[in-house]
Amino acid sequence: MTSRAIELVAKAIAGSPKVVVLTGAGISQESGVPTFRGNDGLWKNFRAEELATPQAFEKDPVLVWKWYDWRRGLIKPLKPNAGHRALVDLERKVEDFTLVTQNVDGLHKVAGSRNPVEIHGTIWRLRCVECSQTFENRDVPIKILPKCESCGGLLRPDVVWFGESLDERMLSKVYGCLQRAQVMLIVGTSGVVQPAASFGIVAKRGGAFVAELNRSRTPQSSLFDLSIQGKAGEVLPELARRVK
Ligand code: OAD
Repeated sequence: MTSRAIELVAKAIAGSPKVVVLTGAGISQESGVPTFRGNDGLWKNFRAEELATPQAFEKDPVLVWKWYDWRRGLIKPLKPNAGHRALVDLERKVEDFTLVTQNVDGLHKVAGSRNPVEIHGTIWRLRCVECSQTFENRDVPIKILPKCESCGGLLRPDVVWFGESLDERMLSKVYGCLQRAQVMLIVGTSGVVQPAASFGIVAKRGGAFVAELNRSRTPQSSLFDLSIQGKAGEVLPELARRVK
């Protein structure tokens, strides 16, 4: 079944110049990055509302920074896996290819994806809470508390926290791609966090063939044209290989 399903997606991609791929934590799982809601999930050990919110940062920036410093230290030595690399390969074969990721680990960029749209931001960029200037920073450990080089304001991770909105311009670009997409592939996301959870539905309404790839079924599996159960690091290379 999986092999036939991969063939179907490969054929759809091969005949379509406009392809969108959405990724979630599942694609980085095989690199060793913990997912959010699995058994090894990050949110199982930490209460998100205590750490990943603007209120938490206002109340205790040292604690929030310690948590991010720990995550940055965990992720920094990790390498992209075969799933990330297969998407780079796919990008080369498709005329109009957009990669949208919810991941903040930066592994798509390390793999060589040209311009992944990081809708939840990245832990490798810091943003000043006063002047909004951003700075690339891969220091591990980071100096707590980091301060803005321009205005001396407090720097925060440039990621989207609970209760915050996504960047409007980025989002409207993504919706444009979804509406024009002929094929959409959704990889390794539980599909429960908005607005990304609705991207597949938007693409489907716009007429795209939408396929999901996940280690297990998700609450959205039945909404799409195809649901492939398997590991991203195994299925994606096979898919990329079959797209001529
Ligand atoms: P989740 O942890 O919610 O879901 C990860 C999904 O990946 C699950 O459905 C797993 O079954 C699947 N999965 C795990 N390993 C896999 C593998 N090797 N191959 C394929 N699938 C695999 O992560 P997300 O859906 O990405 O937001 O979470 C969405 C957002 O919730 C995150 O971006 C984060 C969090 O709150 C923010 O921090 C703003």
